[in-house]
Amino acid sequence: MSESKRLAAEKAIEYVEDGMIVGVGTGSTVAYFIDALARIKDRIQATVSSSERSTELLRGHGIEVLDLNATGSLSLYVDGADECDPHKRLIKGGGAALTREKIIAEASEKFVCIVDPSKRVDVLGKFPLPVEVIPMARSLAARQILALTGGQPVWRQNSEGAPVVTDNGNWVLDIHNLSITDPVGIEQAINQIPGVVSVGLFARRPADVVIVGGEPPLVL
Ligand code: 5RP
Repeated sequence: MSESKRLAAEKAIEYVEDGMIVGVGTGSTVAYFIDALARIKDRIQATVSSSERSTELLRGHGIEVLDLNATGSLSLYVDGADECDPHKRLIKGGGAALTREKIIAEASEKFVCIVDPSKRVDVLGKFPLPVEVIPMARSLAARQILALTGGQPVWRQNSEGAPVVTDNGNWVLDIHNLSITDPVGIEQAINQIPGVVSVGLFARRPADVVIVGGEPPLVL
């Protein structure tokens, strides 16, 4: 799979234009994109990053990282996904960076999603749907998500049993056993629950282009 990820990431470099401020997502596929971006770093102005992890990688390559408040809208955002349906709607947040990813996707004119072939599905929901919640709302949000979707919320914890804490200081619920036939409706409904910061469904604002890594890469 890692070769497919690398091939998708290399293809995405074709969308980077001289002088751009590039939005950069999070994850192992994006790590290949950051490596590729480093090779042309003198052609771009700077980046906006969706996570502390990506910021560290970018700065490690000597690539400038700016605050989205200082840049305004972006022309291009490149990020991975955990699932992608035929309408370019996505599940994201496997790396717990969903909220900042959603903010940058919303702020960007073009969202290029880079995936390996295993991420393509007909119906979203086999990958547990991440939801970032304010810690005190974890139990309330879990009960309401169960009632709303029928899915099973599981509090994300690390291998030592400690809660996974997002870059924003919040927790993550992963909703299992979903078959999401109305992604926009579910996205909006989960967003309404008090204490939910964001849901990792990118349906209201899907990707504009999906690149599936392979020889040659498939551009959807
Ligand atoms: C992080 C994400 C990632 O884009 C998603 O988890 C895919 O990761 P990878 O490229 O490692 O398969 O949404 O929050």
